Amino acid sequence: MGNFNVEAIRTDFPNLNVPVHGKPLVYLDNGATTLKPQSVIDAINHHYTQETSNVHRGVHTLSQLATSAYEGARVKVQKFLNAASEREIIFTKGTTDAINLVAASLGDTLTTGDEILITEMEHHSNIVPWQILCKKKGCNLKVAPINDQGELILDEFKKLLSPKTKIVAIVYMSNSLGTINPVEEIIKLAHANGTPVLLDAAQAVSHTHIDVKALDCDLLAFSSHKLFGPTGCGVLYGKESLLNDLSPYQGGGDMIEKVSFAGTTFNTLPYKFEAGTPNIAGVIGLGAAIDYIEKVDWEGMQQHKKELLTYATEQLEQIEGLRIIGTAVNKIAILSFVIDNIHAHDLGTLIDQEGVAVRTGHHCTMPVMEHFGITATTRASFSWYNTHEEIDILVKAIKQAKEIFK
Ligand code: ALA
Repeated sequence: MGNFNVEAIRTDFPNLNVPVHGKPLVYLDNGATTLKPQSVIDAINHHYTQETSNVHRGVHTLSQLATSAYEGARVKVQKFLNAASEREIIFTKGTTDAINLVAASLGDTLTTGDEILITEMEHHSNIVPWQILCKKKGCNLKVAPINDQGELILDEFKKLLSPKTKIVAIVYMSNSLGTINPVEEIIKLAHANGTPVLLDAAQAVSHTHIDVKALDCDLLAFSSHKLFGPTGCGVLYGKESLLNDLSPYQGGGDMIEKVSFAGTTFNTLPYKFEAGTPNIAGVIGLGAAIDYIEKVDWEGMQQHKKELLTYATEQLEQIEGLRIIGTAVNKIAILSFVIDNIHAHDLGTLIDQEGVAVRTGHHCTMPVMEHFGITATTRASFSWYNTHEEIDILVKAIKQAKEIFK
């Protein structure tokens, strides 16, 4: 397992020391947001206590320091994703904001009858922006179906690719099923069709080392807060040539080169897409999160999460009346399940009393719930600071809840 040491990693996350209902916190809601290491909290604190200033707008010392930290974070993201240039890294409010940016800007180039291809397992953030666009532009949303394991049916996806397909927008790793999509193959198929691909990497970003050059994706979105960074901040990666061809998403300060009442010329990349004062502290926090995770032994971490998934699956499968939703062959450490006669919200509330934090509900993937004929699941999503002992606590808490509902 190389240098990976879960106990050492746990000491980096102060929130793990805060009891819930008098019990040690068992945080299994990492798909919703990860906990933050002390170094990220310190970086944000440092910005607000030592370097509070706006960026790109001042010659004074604090502004220079803040600008250098903000742009330094951009370079960290560029290297982290192996993007060709920092001009390809646009800071957004998060994954949702990044997808909305693409839908609005790329949407400008679409006309009646054009098609957008997504899958049945998308998060609402990769469905609704396209529906809004389709309504506005008279485009059609095509949806590639999934099977009962929660895997994309690739043959159906292929059939839906057509000369009218103007973008494929697809989740890399599903938040409610845990499915890892065969994105390399999907990208090749789409490119052979002349279609660019947007990857929703909201979950993927903390589960795999993303290399946008190797993937050859055209666009990719992720959120800082699922990568141990702060909320309200995220990234849109886009190939420079593609981004250059898109019109700005929002107008305002910093995204312009020259403004007059006769007309405005826009700033170069990436600023063209960053109107207004950005989330400076958030971006600096994201940079610190990348510094943090670059120090972790990724191979060891991935092996640890694989073991957690295997162990949790084995343990949960032994609980009578429990059904796992999402049994893809290739999965990340996310386990969604339903239990006979107990609603997910009731279960979530009861196990919270034991200090166990899970997400319950439709996970912003109502079409996935519809596919499986359910309205909600309980979802345990693991991160590298989780342990086998915590899975035992989860299982015990579920069994106790079952007793109450007997
Ligand atoms: N998309 C996040 C989740 O899956 C919020 O929980």
